Amino acid sequence: MSRVLILFAHPALRTSRVQRAMADAVRDLPGVTFHDLYEAYPDFDVDVPAEQARLSAHDVIVLQHPLYWYSVPPLVKQWFDLVLEHGWAYGSQGRALEGKVLQVALSAGGRAQAYGPGSFNGYSIAQFLAPVEATVRLCRMRWAEPFTVMGTHMMGAADIREAAARYAALVRGYVESDAVAAGGR
Ligand SMILES: Cc1cc2nc3c(=O)[nH]c(=O)nc-3n(C[C@H](O)[C@H](O)[C@H](O)COP(=O)(O)O)c2cc1C
Repeated sequence: MSRVLILFAHPALRTSRVQRAMADAVRDLPGVTFHDLYEAYPDFDVDVPAEQARLSAHDVIVLQHPLYWYSVPPLVKQWFDLVLEHGWAYGSQGRALEGKVLQVALSAGGRAQAYGPGSFNGYSIAQFLAPVEATVRLCRMRWAEPFTVMGTHMMGAADIREAAARYAALVRGYVESDAVAAGGR
């Protein structure tokens, strides 16, 4: 069994369709800690010791958010800036996160075809996520293939239910995995 922490960040949850359904599909799963960052920190005043303790107590960290301007919502950046301290998360002495898995779970309005070389947006989702991936690797965490829900503007209720179910299956798979908790060895 692995302990899964979901860091959920949606700046406008009241208007959310996709992320809300995804959140509802995982928030009460056994073995999962669901942490809503915008609810916890409406003033961006992140409690660093509490966040670090929460990270230490889990094996898999899921970063769940909508893609905003090809990037993470601003509170996620603030959270990175404050929580991932030198000497704790990175640097020669910073090994608190070593071996943990970081799974991005994002939704995007643009369809899959709108991303990639020569596409409408010019770059792939993987390229837009490069700063997040580099951050994760600097912290000696394991980078998982991002879970993406694309083309949200075109999605109907059945599509959203299906995406939420796929997401819940992924999270459940992490909970049931012993290999993740053992550091993949
Ligand atoms: C401020 C803002 C910026 C956005 N930027 C992007 C973007 O860069 N690329 C994209 O594909 N969708 C973008 N979107 C669309 C959201 O990603 C999409 O509406 C969201 O993932 C749908 O999930 P929800 O129903 O939970 O809000 C943006 C939406 C907003 C409000």
